[in-house]
Amino acid sequence: MKFYWTMNAAESGCGKKCAMICLLCVASFLAQISSAQSAAPQTKNEAVNANPLDAPGLEEKVDALLQKMTLEEKIGQLVQYSAGQATGPTSGRTDDRDMIRKGQVGSLFNVTGARETNALQRIAVENSRLKIPLIFGLDVIHGFRTTFPIPLGLAATWEPEIVEKAARVAASEASSAGVRWAFSPMVDIARDARWGRISEGAGEDPYLGAAMARAYVRGYQGQRLDATDSIVACAKHYVGYGAAEGGRDYNSTEISEHTLRQFYLPPFRAAEEAGAATFMSGFNALNAIPTSANPFTLKQVLRKEWGFRGFVVSDWNSVGEVQAHGIANDAATAARKALLAGVDMDMVSNAYHRNLLQLLQSGQIAQSDIDEAVRNVLRVKFAMGLFDHPYTDENKESSAMLRPESVSIARQAATQSLVLLRNEVVSGVPMLPFSARIASLALIGPLGDDAGNMIGSWGALGRSADAVTLRRALGEKLGDANVHYAKGTGFLNGPDSDIAAAVAAAQSSDVVILALGEDAPTMTGEAASRTWLGLPGRQEELLEKVVAAGKPVVLILFSGRPLTVPWAFEHVPAVLAAWFPGVQAGNALADVLFGAAAPAGRLPLSWPRSVGQEPLYYNALNTGRPEADPEHPAEKGEKKFISRYIDAPNSPQFPFGYGLTYTTFSYGVTQSSAKQLPFASLQNALAEPAHQSPVVSVSAEIKNNGARAGETLAQLYIRLEGTSVAMPVRMLKGFQKVALAAGESRKVTFELSADTFAFWGAENKFAVEPAHVTIWIAPNSAEGESTTLEITGTRQ
Ligand code: NOJ
Repeated sequence: MKFYWTMNAAESGCGKKCAMICLLCVASFLAQISSAQSAAPQTKNEAVNANPLDAPGLEEKVDALLQKMTLEEKIGQLVQYSAGQATGPTSGRTDDRDMIRKGQVGSLFNVTGARETNALQRIAVENSRLKIPLIFGLDVIHGFRTTFPIPLGLAATWEPEIVEKAARVAASEASSAGVRWAFSPMVDIARDARWGRISEGAGEDPYLGAAMARAYVRGYQGQRLDATDSIVACAKHYVGYGAAEGGRDYNSTEISEHTLRQFYLPPFRAAEEAGAATFMSGFNALNAIPTSANPFTLKQVLRKEWGFRGFVVSDWNSVGEVQAHGIANDAATAARKALLAGVDMDMVSNAYHRNLLQLLQSGQIAQSDIDEAVRNVLRVKFAMGLFDHPYTDENKESSAMLRPESVSIARQAATQSLVLLRNEVVSGVPMLPFSARIASLALIGPLGDDAGNMIGSWGALGRSADAVTLRRALGEKLGDANVHYAKGTGFLNGPDSDIAAAVAAAQSSDVVILALGEDAPTMTGEAASRTWLGLPGRQEELLEKVVAAGKPVVLILFSGRPLTVPWAFEHVPAVLAAWFPGVQAGNALADVLFGAAAPAGRLPLSWPRSVGQEPLYYNALNTGRPEADPEHPAEKGEKKFISRYIDAPNSPQFPFGYGLTYTTFSYGVTQSSAKQLPFASLQNALAEPAHQSPVVSVSAEIKNNGARAGETLAQLYIRLEGTSVAMPVRMLKGFQKVALAAGESRKVTFELSADTFAFWGAENKFAVEPAHVTIWIAPNSAEGESTTLEITGTRQ
């Protein structure tokens, strides 16, 4: 049973004022439901539609077409250009329409609009010999026209259902504009906030990352991939891109097979199992082999082990860049290595277009190598119904955009993505929600009225004019005259006079909201790595001067990564992490600030105290000299020879899974239905095809200690000891949202299956091993009262 809080005031039909009443209704309704809950919001076998690439008759169609194709036409299917860029020196061509006509292009991207895509499609379908339609792709990352929070914000909702809904909206808008392929989801695990692209993924955890991956794929590809409003998903960047050394984008990665299998591959595996029809290979070298020419990850793991039947597209020019990596001295070798490794489609590099024919003629690749890649591409084109309906209805495009129900989903998603990091008591009550009537409010900072930034760094067709800023939302709520807006500073600089004006605005207001952070397009996302994670420019100075004005302050951080602002975490009463919330940014924030909705977001990553702690992730190994362990030197008074820094704690500022809301909860001791699990029975359970039957129930009593209804996110973590390889101090294995009325308590149960305990061990396979197991049901990765059980027996 799913247990998500997805209803908002708009959905309930009663408006904002009765949101709290709704909260109570739902809490009491939920209280009547059995306490037995599924541990995992989605399991790998639950609710996954039949893989569209296995549809009956598909292979016959692919084979029949393949037989008719010339070599040039086959190579054409493996070539992709960004629209308008097929010409020029690298292709040696002057007319991209002529290329389409000759069947020399299989896909275009960066062209949108039903009319525009139809015009190009017409050339392929009506003027090319075999009439093979083009597949149009785009970076539809967190919405098309209706922009949702950035993916890191969507992950902070811990709400796969809302993510699936957002992806469905994106699919319906994009498809109405002729785009049937999204280069999303990005499912790269990221442990280092210096990396700008941490904003584009689901954070540091493979379990949460897998849940999000499935949600995006289901949303994009819908019930039927061949429906005209479904779009093909693309799991990227395969694989390990997020482990870029030093957090520097495009940098190399070194990841052991254990770490790759245990942490980096699971979200990709989840996407594949959910039916993702395409994958994108990465820019990075992985263990010294570029991932766009890596037969181990592409052929061995993706094709052979997982049985992937879709196609792999390279990242932008990443086939060409195989040369720069240093494993090919010319573009032809780069093309050969990429193709043989399993990259089916070459995004813009021209290496396939210019070299595959000659490589075949000289015997460096075989006809079957090309045929296999073409089959993969055609299989997807058939499965998505492109041959049956290659065109887009030009009359429906505008009505598909920004529908009221889509905007309402954007508001819900934004509301649920907000993470309350701090909420101190001011004059006897918590700073948030604003309780007393606020006569005047100062809104200060470069992000208070910046609509473009609310859209984030991958806006697709999102327009700033559609985005509601905080200034607009607050003005509508309190009256423009009561909102004293002062920008205070730009992102990087600004005059003293602007800071002085901001301080004056603070002095003349009841409360202050500071809207600070990063500039999304230039400081987050691709090619936006940072070596320092503080507030850019003069914003820290602005913050401290405004706080010195003595008024109660709420700091809202807009950012694509956690920001290190330790001073604020000590001196500002309330701090909200807002990421970049999308078109409904201001409304969602106003709902939370004024208590129409309670903050529901939880951190999908560990929030560092300082950049020097990076890479920082909760699911790390214990080391031989841990900082806190009764058996180890630190607890015995040893200060020096332990694994720690001399100038800062190891712990994060806020742990993975952390987030406050407007009430408080206590978690009782975790209890387990069994104290021993025979190793052999777990192994047998794991060998079952579904391996999802529960083997043990784990529960804890959770109490809402406050005077208002609220929701907590119960997280289930385990630790395994005594295993063949060292395992992390905690691993997330389940989560569920629990809504409780004021004062209510409830036993929350997770049913764990055998694969909860399986991992990639020293024998290089996923298996269960005898182990001492610690289990926590906790409000975040650093709290909770654990129980233990033993996986007994010996391995053969
Ligand atoms: C490069 C990025 O790495 C990738 O995520 C994106 O999909 C492609 N460019 C296409 O724009």
